[in-house]
This record gives sequence, C-alpha cells and structure tokens, in this order.
Amino acid sequence: MNVIKSMLTSCALWCCALTGNAQAPTPYTPTAENLKARATFEDNRFGVFLHWGLYSLFAQGEWYMTNDNINYHEYAKSAEAFYPHNFDAAKWVSAIKAAGARYICFTTRHHDGFSMWDTDCSTYDIEHTPYGKDILRQLADECHRQGIKLHLYYSLLDWTREDYPIGRTGQGTGRKGQADWASYYDFMKCQLRELLTRYGTVDCIWFDGVWDHDRDSTFDWQLEGLYSLIHELQPACLVGNNHHLAPFPGEDIQIFERDVPGENKAGLSGQAIGHLPLETCQTMNGMWGYKIKDQNYKSPATLLQLLARTAAKGANLLLNIGPQPDGSLPDTALSRLQSIGTWLDKHGDAIYGTTAGDVHQGDSIVSTRKGDRLFVHILSPKIKEFTLPLKGKVSSVTSFPDGNDVEYTAHHEQIEIRELDIPQNCPDYIIEIKFRLH
Ligand code: GLC
Repeated sequence: MNVIKSMLTSCALWCCALTGNAQAPTPYTPTAENLKARATFEDNRFGVFLHWGLYSLFAQGEWYMTNDNINYHEYAKSAEAFYPHNFDAAKWVSAIKAAGARYICFTTRHHDGFSMWDTDCSTYDIEHTPYGKDILRQLADECHRQGIKLHLYYSLLDWTREDYPIGRTGQGTGRKGQADWASYYDFMKCQLRELLTRYGTVDCIWFDGVWDHDRDSTFDWQLEGLYSLIHELQPACLVGNNHHLAPFPGEDIQIFERDVPGENKAGLSGQAIGHLPLETCQTMNGMWGYKIKDQNYKSPATLLQLLARTAAKGANLLLNIGPQPDGSLPDTALSRLQSIGTWLDKHGDAIYGTTAGDVHQGDSIVSTRKGDRLFVHILSPKIKEFTLPLKGKVSSVTSFPDGNDVEYTAHHEQIEIRELDIPQNCPDYIIEIKFRLH
C-alpha cells in the first residue's frame, strides 16, 4: 500500500516536473510565537507525564495488549468497565503543580487506539464507556484554570484499527492486515484537528510510535502534513516526536527516552543532539502505564538527582506517573511529587530558567548556569573537595540557597573547592559561583 502511495507521490512529482511546476516542499519556519513558546518550554525544565487509558484497567502496563497478544475485540470490552469514579482533575493538577512541574503531558490516545476524549472521528473513545465524561476536557480546563501548560501525547501507531498498516508491534492483536493508509491518515488528521480546536491552548503535541515501521525504509508517515496542520491551527504549539532519531523538519523540540541527552544507557538514545530544546522522559517506577506489580519507585534522591543531571544537559525532565484504574494517582507517586515540590521550592532557582553548565565531573558533579551565576550541583555527599576548570573572574562562592561561604581558591582558570561537609541525606548540594562581569 505504501509502495503504491510512494509511486503515486513520485508520479505526481514527475508530472509536475514535466509541466515545469516542480516545487520543493516549503521548509518550516517557526513563527515568532512558536520561538517564544520554545524559550518558555526550556525555562520550565520540569513536566509530569501521565499515561492513562484502557490499559490501566488491566494493571499490566501500557503494552499489555501486544505483549500478551490480546485480540482487539476482546480488549475493547474493557471500555465497558471504564468508570474511574475517583478521577478528579483538580486534585491531579494541584498535586502536579505543587511538585513544581510547569507542564503536564497526557496520553490522549496510546498504542491500544482508545481515545481519552470525546472524539467524533471514531467510536472507540471515552464517550462510549459507562463513565462517558470527557477526561481530556476536564484535565485541559483544569490546566488552564491553574495555569499549567498542557502537552498532548498522541500515538501514531494503532494496535486496534484495521486501516493502520501493521508494523513490527501489535502483530498478535487479531487485525486482518487490511491496511488503508489514506483512511488512517485522515483519521489522525481528524483527531489532531479536534485536539487543537476544542481544548483551548495546547502547548505541545508529543508523537510516539514512528519506530513501529523503522525496519521498512519505504514507509512514509507523511509527518510534515501532520506537523503543518498543527502549526496552522496553533502556531505556538510545539511539535515533538519520540522517534529516537535526530529531529525531523517541522519539529520544535527533541525528545530522549529514559536517558539524559548524550547518554544511552537504556539503548533508545543513540541519536545526535540537535539545536532544538531538549526533553528527557523517564518513569518514576519501571513502567509508563499502571502496573500492579511495579513498586520499583526511584527514591526521592534519585529523582532529584535526575532532575539536576537533566537540567545540567540543558534539557527538561518529563517524569511519568501511571494513574490507577479508579482515576487516582498512586500514593507513592504523590509522595514523590511532594518531595520534589519541597526541594524545588527552595532550590528551583538553580533549575528553572537555567542553561547547561559548562563544568562537570562524571555523574556526581554537574552544573547549570543563569547569566553570571554558575550552580555546581554535588550529587554525592561523600565529596569533600574538588577542582574544576573554570573561565572568568570569580566574585563569590557560597552554598545555595543559604549563602554560606565556601572555602575555595580560584586561579589559573580553575577553581578548587575545599572542606565541604555535606549532610548525608542531601541529594544535591549546590554551590553558587558568581562571576565578575568585568
Ligand atoms: C515508548 C513506549 C510507550 C511510551 C513511551 C513514552 O515509546 O512504547 O509505551 O508511551 O515510550 O516515552
């Protein structure tokens, strides 16, 4: 099917060439408001990801359908049981805001194909559940009311629809393989149009799933058509795509999955770092969607250190929570949010609005920068002294935010810090170095 499509496309180009009308696609030029939104995005540094959908009912993570080869007709019956009586958008947003997160990214439709809003483009949606109320509407209204930005995750792949060309995942979900790309593409455009016209300001569309066809080099997702639709409807809306590759034309941010930019411990982040604002997404425990056995939560210290290490790479952290089937957030997740919020209340100046710092020593000493202030984050309380290369004339070196003097010597383009006595339970001891401008 895609081969036919690409034949048609090349025929169209060839025809144009014959008539002398060949036109290269217009390159994407972000608008002024889009550039401003990128800058705000970078300043925000911390967001919370929410993976919630039908899969949450099975409590086995969001890949359950394909991992266990569940027939899509059978899986869809779970929609009849979707009644999250404890869902309270105001509570979610308040807890996330209090954690110091500046945006929420919500899974509007994940790979299982179920839409968490009242979509007219399909009947496989929240309207056709006993719950019946538009989850996205409630969440979007609450985000706007509480002044926190709204990002929307949207899966490009679909394990349920017959018109989606089956890729390397979801092969056991019972689809007959009767792909109809034109129909599927129209469906996605229909849905994106709804998302960008019915829910007020949407600050980002976060795509996922390109990798479903990464072994078929002839496959064309026609992403530019989707990207330009988004930018036409809301020019400031940022487009990001978790394709694990260097940015494509039309994208406004670059995403890294489970690794800070430049590291590839999880194996999904070998791509080059481009020039766009960066974001790392990571789970609080092990899975994205709620998994009943997954109590493997990262400690508050690990999460704060991850936030510091991400900011030190000039990237945002998008930290995931998988809400429970009843619509509430897991207690441990709430407690982690609280710890992060308490820490950011005090130390946020060294995270928000910063850029990557220019000094580091492995994973245990990293830095962020804000104008003439360099924040050195010491992520191990065992460190008593260290020497770092440093350019510029130092005017003061103090602990942050308390402002206590720190023993140091600055000479020959390096700084030596001494006699540190970091409390054992301190996940990130920050030293602020101020520079003399002249
Ligand atoms: C991967 C997973 C997906 C998850 C996403 C979040 O792409 O397939 O389930 O939503 O990562 O980053």
